[in-house]
Amino acid sequence: MGDARERRIGIEAAIAVLGSGGLVAMPTETVYGLAADATLPRAIAGIFAAKGRPRFNPLIVHVPTIGRAQDLAEFDDTALRLAVAFWPGPLTLVLPQRRGNGIADLATAGLPTIAIRVPAHPVARELLTAYDRPLAAPSANRSGHVSPTTAAHVAADLGDALAVILDAGPTAVGVESTIVGFEHGAAVLLRPGGVGRAAIEEVLGVRVGEPANDGRVAAPGMLASHYAPSVPLRLDAASVGTDESLIAFGALPDWATAATAIRNLSETGDLAEAATRLFSALRDLEALGRPIAAMPVPHVGLGEAINDRLRRAAAPRG
Ligand code: TXA
Ligand code: MG
Repeated sequence: MGDARERRIGIEAAIAVLGSGGLVAMPTETVYGLAADATLPRAIAGIFAAKGRPRFNPLIVHVPTIGRAQDLAEFDDTALRLAVAFWPGPLTLVLPQRRGNGIADLATAGLPTIAIRVPAHPVARELLTAYDRPLAAPSANRSGHVSPTTAAHVAADLGDALAVILDAGPTAVGVESTIVGFEHGAAVLLRPGGVGRAAIEEVLGVRVGEPANDGRVAAPGMLASHYAPSVPLRLDAASVGTDESLIAFGALPDWATAATAIRNLSETGDLAEAATRLFSALRDLEALGRPIAAMPVPHVGLGEAINDRLRRAAAPRG
C-alpha cells in the first residue's frame, strides 16, 4: 500500500470481498482487525470460524463517524462526551443497541449491548467511508494468540482464510482499544487499552470504576489466559536464566546479558514506544521456543494496558 494508487486498488478489492460476505484484514491504529460486513450473518460466522473464536464472545463494530455510531446504539451524555473526546481513536464504547439496527445477532453474541468504535487509521477510515456499512472486526489473530501489529503477523495466523490483507505497515498504538461500558449510568473500564484511564477520567471529571463482579465476565473476551504465546512467560523478572529470553523495559541491568535473546520494549522507558513493540516482542521470542521472562513495567498510562496483556500472556493455559 505504498502509494495512493496501490491503496485505492487495495480498498476496491476489499470492498468487493466484503460485499460478497468475505473477510479482509484491515489496519487500525491499535492492531490489525479481521473485518467483515456486520450486517451479514454468514460473513460474521466466517470471522468466528477463521479465528476459532467461541461464539459467546462478541465483536467490536467499526463505523466512520459518531453519527453512524448513533444509528446503532443509544448514547447518553457520558457516552457522547467520551465519543467526542476520543473518536476517532483507540476507545470502544459498549452501549445499548438500537432496535432494528441491522447488525447480525452473531456479531453481538445475542447481547442487548453493542461494542462500537471509530478507528483513527487512515486506511480503516477510507475503507469504512467507501464501504458505507458497519464492519465487525476482532483482532486478526487466531483466538487466544497474540494480537497482530503487522501484516506479516496476520498472514502467519490467518493467511489462508484471507483474500485481502491491507498492509499499512506496523500499527502506531500497538495495544487494542480501551473498552468502556456503563453500569447504572457510570463508566466502567472493561479493558485497559490505547486510551489511558487518566485521560478518560479527565474528560468525565470522575473516577472510572471497575465492572461489578457478579460472576459474569464483563467483557466476554477477557478470559484469564489470552494473548498467549506458545511458550511460558513469567513476570517481574529481576534475574534471567541462560535458557530464557528476556522482555526488557528501560536501561538494561547487568544481569540481563545472561538471557538467550533480549527484546527491549523501550530503552528510554517510554510507555508509548513499549506498547508498539509488545506484541512483536512476544511473537519474536515465542519463535525461539525458550521460556520468556519479562521485566516490570510501570502501571501508569499505557503501562496499565501493557501489564494487562503481559499478565494474561503469563496466565496458566485453559
Ligand atoms: O483495538 C481494538 O479494539 C481491535 C481493533 C481491530 O479494533 N479489536 C479488538 O477486538 O481488540 P477483539 O475482538 O479482539 O476484542 C473485543 C473485546 C472482547 O473482549 C469482547 O468480549 C468485547 O470486546 N466485547 C464486544 N462486545 C461486547 C459487549 N457487548 N459487551 C462487553 N464486551 C464486549
Ligand atoms: Mg483479540
